[in-house]
Amino acid sequence: MCGIFAIVTKEEQLLGPTLIEAGRRLSYRGYDTVGAATIPQAGEIDLRKDAGRVEEVAEHYNFAEMYGNRAILQLRWATFGAPSQPNSQPHLDSDGDMVGAHNGNVVNNVELRREFMAEGMTVRSENDGESCVHAVERYVDQGHDMVEAMRLASHDLEGDYAYVIGKVGEDRLYAIKKGSGLVAGITDDTVCIASDLPSVLPKTRNIVRLEDGEIITFWAGGYEIRKVEDGSLVERQPELVEESMEVAQKGGYAHFMLKEIHEQAQVAGELVHLLDSSPDVDPFLERLAGARNVYIVACGTSYHAGMLGSVYLGRLAGLPTIPGLAPQFRAQYGSPIGPEDVGIFISQSGETKDVLDAVGLAQARGMGVLGLVNVVGSALIRKSEYHIPLTCGYEISVPATKTFSNQVIALLYLSLRMGGHDTAVLRALPAWIEETIAGVEDQIPAVEERVTPWDDLYCLGYGLTYPIALEGALKFKEITYAHCEGMLSTEFKHGPLSAVTEGYPVIFVAGPEDVPLIISGINEVTCRGGRAIVIGEEDDRLRANAHDVIVIPRVDAPPALRPSIATLLSVIPLQLLSYESSLARDYDPDFPRNLSKTLTVD
Ligand code: M6R
Repeated sequence: MCGIFAIVTKEEQLLGPTLIEAGRRLSYRGYDTVGAATIPQAGEIDLRKDAGRVEEVAEHYNFAEMYGNRAILQLRWATFGAPSQPNSQPHLDSDGDMVGAHNGNVVNNVELRREFMAEGMTVRSENDGESCVHAVERYVDQGHDMVEAMRLASHDLEGDYAYVIGKVGEDRLYAIKKGSGLVAGITDDTVCIASDLPSVLPKTRNIVRLEDGEIITFWAGGYEIRKVEDGSLVERQPELVEESMEVAQKGGYAHFMLKEIHEQAQVAGELVHLLDSSPDVDPFLERLAGARNVYIVACGTSYHAGMLGSVYLGRLAGLPTIPGLAPQFRAQYGSPIGPEDVGIFISQSGETKDVLDAVGLAQARGMGVLGLVNVVGSALIRKSEYHIPLTCGYEISVPATKTFSNQVIALLYLSLRMGGHDTAVLRALPAWIEETIAGVEDQIPAVEERVTPWDDLYCLGYGLTYPIALEGALKFKEITYAHCEGMLSTEFKHGPLSAVTEGYPVIFVAGPEDVPLIISGINEVTCRGGRAIVIGEEDDRLRANAHDVIVIPRVDAPPALRPSIATLLSVIPLQLLSYESSLARDYDPDFPRNLSKTLTVD
């Protein structure tokens, strides 16, 4: 999703390197265009922007030489208007003495652009970020000061967004938050704001977190926050943020994705420690015990973790649980849900709009809401009645890996507790995860060679492993650009089997309990010339029937829990296989085309 960064310094200086660095730090959110502007006290705004990567655009337009004491940088992930130079942000107002950039969505953009043009303003793009600038311009032209103009403009701009704006001839910048993330970093002589912490932390750990419905005015060394609603002043002191930025580096790995796959053991250990002392766990479990219906709601990878959680809650706690993709949850269960129901809402970013909209509806209906969230301080944490942090640290790579594992572990823990099982078994998880990664890494290349030539393949699972198959298929689609469909293995014969030709790859994820069933599926594929690739524990029956077997370790857990733990480990070979296949195709797995890490739009 788009990212904004803006800075005001005491002295005029070379701001280009700071802007380029901020762009790099925001780039994990995903983007198609890059732009930067510096705003002088007098004279013309220096605006440089275009479609492309930070490094390309910054080099082509020589961002490094950008000079001044006020600047705005924006990375845009296209929603309104194609990823082109005119649609890149920041945007100028009609006479070019104001410039601004936004993150989020102005949903009445088309109507607003028509109004602005009818009022004689110069509209240069189709992008909704430009509408933010003209919305302010409209009221500045009527004689209002900037803050008042932004308050009035907020009535015209529909949607969820944050934007930053500045004017020639002043010494300050202004930013507003309505639904999208915005934090400010404060030092004695510099103030910067950004969509998230990673781009501010290198400057300072003195952080002010903005709330929805607030406008911040900031200048070298100072700031003032006012409520959009009535213009009243908000007193908020900076807090000292302890988080380390070291984790945001690749730490010797070729890609963030590989680093994050390898971090799974460590972050699992941290989560398992935290769960026993997490203050919201017991109250939430009490609420869960008395619930009429239990829902698990999320999108993408987080939804797959939720699906697996619903299988865990059914099997280990005897608790029927309804998993749902967030927008479908609203459409399907919006009217029946009520205060007797409980929902677990899962999101890595805690900012996914589809999920936040579902939470909003759930809360309006009085439902109990638990948020399973990775990003500290995100909207989902703030909105949730109960929350459990996933403790993964920053996940930079667009494909989620370590956050998936910790989401699953948190759900497994809740299921064990609800079912009266001993959770001590989870303490061995870090060692099992490490053993799995070390054991499968050498097995991946031979299988990668079999799948990479195909632009179409299937990944099948059953029962516990069905959500893992869906997650594996999503990883393939996301970073290899191949069409990989995840499916319940027993459904394959009901239609998709017709796709199988000589060598056609079908990946089976075999849970320890499901080997006989999976063997039938394997043979339905192999007898038609297809190539069966199996992920499972060492088993002669699988070796005898499949072409390739990627073996995961057999864990020493109580028999009733072993399938649940083995399932969690079986995602690791799929993460590594899709990673290697992405590299073999010469793609960047960290930043796949068209995708964004944080989706704050409908
Ligand atoms: O931040 P969230 O967990 O709410 O994000 C949901 C999806 O957008 C996300 O899981 C997406 O599917 C991942 N990039 C998949 O790797």
